Amino acid sequence: MSMFDKIPGWLKSFIGLFIKFETRNEEPGKKPAAIAIAKPAAKQAAFPFPETGEKNQSRLSSEAKPSISITAKNELKAESRKLEQSFTSPCGLIHAPPIAEKRRYQPIVSFKNVTKIFNKGTENEFVAIENVSFEIEDLPDVGEFIALVGPSGCGKSTVLNLIQAFQEVGPPTHGEILVRNKPVKGPGRDRGMIFQKYSSFPHLTVLDNVKFGLELNREELGFSDKTMNHLAMEMIKKVGLNGHEDKYPYQLSGGQQQRVAIARTLVLKPRIIFMDEPFSALDEPTRIEMQQLITDLWHEVEATVFIITHSLAEALYLSDRIFMFTPSPGRLNKQIFIPPEAIGKIPGHSPLEVQESQPFKAALKEITDEFIKIGDIN
Ligand SMILES: Nc1ncnc2c1ncn2[C@@H]1O[C@H](COP(=O)(O)OP(=O)(O)O)[C@@H](O)[C@H]1O
Ligand SMILES: [Mg+2]
Repeated sequence: MSMFDKIPGWLKSFIGLFIKFETRNEEPGKKPAAIAIAKPAAKQAAFPFPETGEKNQSRLSSEAKPSISITAKNELKAESRKLEQSFTSPCGLIHAPPIAEKRRYQPIVSFKNVTKIFNKGTENEFVAIENVSFEIEDLPDVGEFIALVGPSGCGKSTVLNLIQAFQEVGPPTHGEILVRNKPVKGPGRDRGMIFQKYSSFPHLTVLDNVKFGLELNREELGFSDKTMNHLAMEMIKKVGLNGHEDKYPYQLSGGQQQRVAIARTLVLKPRIIFMDEPFSALDEPTRIEMQQLITDLWHEVEATVFIITHSLAEALYLSDRIFMFTPSPGRLNKQIFIPPEAIGKIPGHSPLEVQESQPFKAALKEITDEFIKIGDIN
């Protein structure tokens, strides 16, 4: 009996909501324009799992090294920050409108005047987000880290749920949400969620937990057991859990459990990753440890990441840009880009070292002042 057979049917359906891919949004033969610009023809089908079969392994295996250097990635990101109507603060943070006039690459995610009203037409009608527009460019081989901050209840989770097209949230009331220029219709394996602690199956080992998404998509992927074990073990090593693969979640610390959650999502190589307050249940040292892990893994992942966090310091440290939402109903007036040099984020320096540095503290003050200012808008 495979580990997948041990999962009760109702649980498979539930988890399938988050992981299983609905292929109807996919156009396997079609290459994203942005990727086509930067890659040779043989590598163009970079969107995960464009076809079935063992050949997908190339995207997943450890042989698949980042195709461009970190320096080149940073240059691409710097280029993408050069927007019209932007200004650079004395700290070096770049304030810009959420939509740019001119873009070099196709957007990977776009929100066009999106409003979400829950329970519309009833006495419980509630405007969660209002007229939100933004665009994330699909930089070739480069994933960006976008932090969503704003007061509790301003609609941050709603934004993420809408991109994932979760059933519970439904379609936007007004406006349009596109992923790679196509309206989102349902959850997909191109989009993965890293949940808070305790998101792993308690009755499965670390290895089986990490393999879960691969097993779930076994037919579509066409991977053998050997390949799945290899991919899962590779990811377990990357998140620093080597030697723990046969343990059950209850035998792990909170930080280790979160590593399992990260590995479970990353093993599927999603193009877009969502993290909704992923570290809020962890103690401070473990949280810092997670920030280090995410930073280390980051350049390999090449996915666009949306993270919701209550911690402005965490948002500032981890992200390339911050979306700051107004109090409910959430609106988005601008984005703030964080060039690594503006916060003293030097390769090889630990998160603590960076966060203790003067440039970081000055930038944090600027972000905090901005947060307070936006909070007073309503
Ligand atoms: N399915 C839903 N039905 C009704 N109201 C909802 C639903 N989901 C969220 N809301 C409401 O929308 C608002 C924004 O929620 P949420 O996006 O979770 O905020 P945040 O993540 O910023 O704290 C909250 O007031 C919440 O109660
Ligand atoms: Mg939330």
